[in-house]
Amino acid sequence: MEKLLANQVALITGASSGIGYGVAKALANAGAAVALNYHSHAESAERLASEIENAGGSAFAVQADVADPDQVANMFDASRARFGGIDIVIANAGLQKDSAFAEMTLDDWNLVLSTNLTGQFLTCQAAVKEFRRRGQTPASKALGKIICISSVHELIPWSGHVNYAASKGGIRMLMQSLAQEVAPECIRVNSIAPGAIRTPINKDAWDTQEALDKLLQLIPYGRVGDVDDIGKAAVWLASDESDYVVGTTLFVDGGMTLYPGFAGNG
Ligand code: BGC
Repeated sequence: MEKLLANQVALITGASSGIGYGVAKALANAGAAVALNYHSHAESAERLASEIENAGGSAFAVQADVADPDQVANMFDASRARFGGIDIVIANAGLQKDSAFAEMTLDDWNLVLSTNLTGQFLTCQAAVKEFRRRGQTPASKALGKIICISSVHELIPWSGHVNYAASKGGIRMLMQSLAQEVAPECIRVNSIAPGAIRTPINKDAWDTQEALDKLLQLIPYGRVGDVDDIGKAAVWLASDESDYVVGTTLFVDGGMTLYPGFAGNG
């Protein structure tokens, strides 16, 4: 059977670790050629590219700070030069700089907003232009697909993380407004909102038994997620299997958004 993403090219931002790394691997396993963007961890992105190539896939690593428009343009140019066109863009790069609100520095506010929100704006804008330039191909029913990696915190308020939650709340409206604007061209824009996924970004929340027990109280399904859980969702959302899914946030969170504190309470 032909693989779900055969003959398609995907660009994944922030692919050198965590969710981006897992999503890139999953898309490659589903047959896509992948452009692996990284900001500072070249070794890890290069290693993943070699692993994919050794397994018979196509991949290369490309450096860019997604908050910089020129670097985003160069990243798209390099991906086009390598693969000839892009079908799927995963706007994933993001970071946390946590602190209590009164102590949050303007630098930490700006860094998180510029990477997480402006970065997705620039990535999505370049994606839309690329899909229009390239035009329809037989590889997919859509002209192009964008998946914004959001968070349960596009919905759940998060004290001590105001910059991060604001960036993810912004992604929700960015995604929905953009989806509405480009759906008539058959460009599908959706989000995945991961809950607690075991990655370096939230290591403190799961790497001791005490922290893990506390975290599990927030997850009705009773386990911390894996990057694979997000990878599988991304493959589906990027494929024609989800062709009628437009402007939706797919929560992949073990039920974290179900207000678990209300179970037997309230
Ligand atoms: C954050 C993680 C956190 C999870 C659930 C994610 O978006 O990056 O640090 O564990 O949301 O709260």
